[in-house]
Order: sequence, then C-alpha cells, then structure tokens
Amino acid sequence: MQIGLIGRGRMGQTLAAVAREKGYIIQTHIGRLTPDSWKKLEEAEIIIDFSHAEQVPFLVKGCTERGLPLITGTTGWQAHLSELIAFAERFPSPRWLWGANFSRGIALLKAALSTWVPFWSHFSDWEAILLEIHHRHKKDAPSGTAKELAQAFPFVKEVHSLRVGEVIGEHRLILSASGEEVELLHRAFDRRIFAEGALWAAVWLLRQKKFVGSFETALSLR
Ligand SMILES: NC(=O)c1ccc[n+]([C@@H]2O[C@H](COP(=O)([O-])OP(=O)(O)OC[C@H]3O[C@@H](n4cnc5c(N)ncnc54)[C@H](OP(=O)(O)O)[C@@H]3O)[C@@H](O)[C@H]2O)c1
Repeated sequence: MQIGLIGRGRMGQTLAAVAREKGYIIQTHIGRLTPDSWKKLEEAEIIIDFSHAEQVPFLVKGCTERGLPLITGTTGWQAHLSELIAFAERFPSPRWLWGANFSRGIALLKAALSTWVPFWSHFSDWEAILLEIHHRHKKDAPSGTAKELAQAFPFVKEVHSLRVGEVIGEHRLILSASGEEVELLHRAFDRRIFAEGALWAAVWLLRQKKFVGSFETALSLR
C-alpha cells in the first residue's frame, strides 16, 4: 500500500512508523496542504489524514474529485459532516472513511452503549456524565470521541474536558444514581492503537468499490 500521509505531528509520526514496520510505503508526507500538494498526493494509492480540522473539507473535496480514497482521522470538523457526505455522494464511486477514534476499544464501547439506550426509560432518576482527558496540546474540546459517545448514548447531560500533561486519551462515562454507580472507562496507553486501526481501515477501504461512512460502519460490515 502506497500512502499519502497528511499530518507531521504526534499521530502523523506514529502512523508513519507503524506503516513502515508493516511494510507499507509512505509515498509522500505533508504537514500543511498547499494547492501544490496535490501533485505529490496523486501518486499515492490512498490518503490518510491526521492533521487539523481546517484542512478536512479541502481534503475530502480534493480527494473525491480526483478519485483518491481517503481516511480521515482528524477530529473537530463534524459540523461539516452532512455537507461533505452530500458532496462525496455526487460522485459515482467515492471512497471516504472517517473515524474520531480508530481504537477497537472505543468502537466496542459505542456498540455496547447503543444497546443500553432502550433501557434508559427505566433510569429517569440516574445521571449520565462523560469526562474526557487529553494532553495539553489537543486543539479541540470536547474530543471527537466524546461527541460520538454522547451521540451513541444521548442521555449524557454533561461532557467535561480536561487538558493536562501528555495523557494520550481517556474517556469515562459515569452513570450515577443515589445508591449506585456504573462507570465505563477507556484508556489509550499508546498512539499505535490509532495508527493500527487507521491502517486496517485503509486496507479495508482499498477493497471497496464505493464507501462513504464511519470506522464503526466499516467494522460492522466486515
Ligand atoms: N482518529 C483517531 O483515532 C485519532 C487519534 C488521535 C488523534 N486524532 C486527531 O488527529 C489529529 C492530529 O493529532 P496530533 O496529535 O497528531 O496533532 P499535532 O501533533 O498537533 O499535529 C498536527 C499536524 O497538522 C498540521 N496542521 C495542518 N493545518 C494546521 C492548522 N491549521 N493548525 C494546526 N496544525 C495544522 C500540523 O502542521 P505543523 O507541523 O506545520 O504544525 C501538524 O503536522 C487531531 O485532530 C486529533 O484529534 C485522531
């Protein structure tokens, strides 16, 4: 697999290292896109993006127009989601997969939470609160993952974000009543889990003729 990689930060560097270990080729590696970047990117088989929300609409549109499959790992751009889906679906065979969190643990958590939704009508005296903790350099808050967890379990009343030190990522859902409490916790200990998930998604997307959807949808179709 020949990868055009966007993002030279923490995730971009981790993805490049894991991809090379797996024998994939980083055909081009760019931090910030310029109109000239497309010349280099067009030589890649697939584009993987771990950069900044500002670049996402430009990348989705540019890749779709050029027939380049795209994996979006960047977060904080979801306000553009429906507009970008509509754009991609105007083309005959778009291939675009996004994921706010490419760890399988979070995918499992979301799937579990969605099965709890029908029971919640019996829990009107309970409170649901989400706490997410990330390193101090993170640009968006709440995290894309926290927003997606709150979507999977729409009874979450408050989302609290803490930015401290070099925490890779922690998401804690607290379900609390007067006499009891349930806590669901996911901790990422290593950025490699996100890189592994994104590379799995890239291999999967290259096998599809057409796909516009999330990492979880891809996992469920496997
Ligand atoms: N999907 C997942 O599983 C997952 C996991 C972890 C992180 N993420 C997301 O991946 C993205 C990258 O995370 P990271 O920790 O690697 O970030 P980072 O270390 O800050 O790196 C960001 C990269 O994006 C570039 N960039 C392009 N346009 C930019 C702009 N307008 N402002 C700032 N930077 C810009 C930076 O360029 P310069 O080098 O020139 O600064 C840098 O190369 C974030 O959105 C993060 O939330 C996703």
